[in-house]
Amino acid sequence: MVKIGKSNVETTQLGLGTNAVGGNNLFPNLKDETGIQIVKTGLDSGIKMLDTAFAYGMGHSEELIGKAIQNYDRKGFVIATKGAQDVVNGNVRINNSPEFLRQAVADSLERLHTDYLDVFYIHFPDKNTPKDKAVAALNELKQQGKIKAIGVSNFSLDQLKEANKNNQVDVDEDQYSLIHRGAEKTLFPYLREHNISFVPFFPLASGLLTGKYSKEVKFPKDDIRNGNPDFQGKRFEKIVDAVDSIKPLAKKHGITTAELVLAWYIKNPDVTVVIPGAKRPEQVKSNAKALSVKLSDDEYKQIDDAFAEFKD
Ligand SMILES: NC(=O)c1ccc[n+]([C@@H]2O[C@H](COP(=O)([O-])OP(=O)(O)OC[C@H]3O[C@@H](n4cnc5c(N)ncnc54)[C@H](OP(=O)(O)O)[C@@H]3O)[C@@H](O)[C@H]2O)c1
Repeated sequence: MVKIGKSNVETTQLGLGTNAVGGNNLFPNLKDETGIQIVKTGLDSGIKMLDTAFAYGMGHSEELIGKAIQNYDRKGFVIATKGAQDVVNGNVRINNSPEFLRQAVADSLERLHTDYLDVFYIHFPDKNTPKDKAVAALNELKQQGKIKAIGVSNFSLDQLKEANKNNQVDVDEDQYSLIHRGAEKTLFPYLREHNISFVPFFPLASGLLTGKYSKEVKFPKDDIRNGNPDFQGKRFEKIVDAVDSIKPLAKKHGITTAELVLAWYIKNPDVTVVIPGAKRPEQVKSNAKALSVKLSDDEYKQIDDAFAEFKD
């Protein structure tokens, strides 16, 4: 179990990303029933953090999670959600004002059918609100017991420093993976120094690091992966080569490549909780096994070295 920043929230080092649970605005052909099963499978497999957001289905992900958790002991797992998207006359604008954040927390609590949020993240920074004022509003909600830990997401280092002026930020969520390693230089030194937890998103690089792609793969014309630089040309080929090079190590452990990659994050001292997403319950079940994989220091380094060229 790990602690989230300076808060009393404790959870497993592997959580469940739920942007494909009710995130119909992000992925095609999602079924509500599958989404609910994904969440239940996660909790049944020993995963103790659910990572969601208003933005995943504009509240629908939270609603499905609210349904899925009804027969589970609420103290047995933690819910992290996010808000900042203010929908006015059908248009979305990013809003970090104290009034908006207070309302966003109240609305999330209602959709999730719960009395408290273990973590509430400001999902994106807005242009105008001083970040320490936004965090001060969340700190009041923390004092009231409505949230247990304060998070920010997609903040630059300067925005994070402003948000953390009074040392109240517990956790930062940002993109980081074996092939997107910018946070190692930009964020990690500050996070370490200030006891702020780190939760990377896209840890499997949207499936690319699971080892299921070969260089020959062709995606349908309208597939969103065609717009993702990781899936294009030489970069895609280099990533597939690097993933292929660690497959023998997965075989040695008798685990999948995805489990091996997730075990690397679990051993990474700068990663607090890794939150792979899933489209099917079987993926969650398999990913959860990473919690019991033990990598030696040499094996950790071997994986790190295989992706060394993605460090810059
Ligand atoms: N704070 C933010 O701004 C932000 C932004 C993005 C995401 N997030 C959070 O981070 C979480 C993780 O990101 P993500 O889900 O987009 O990407 P990800 O974790 O890198 O990749 C997840 C995808 O990989 C595939 N997959 C997962 N397990 C697999 C397995 N065992 N075998 C084969 N394929 C597997 C599935 O897609 P396919 O089956 O389609 O291949 C799944 O949807 C999200 O769910 C969300 O909670 C936060």
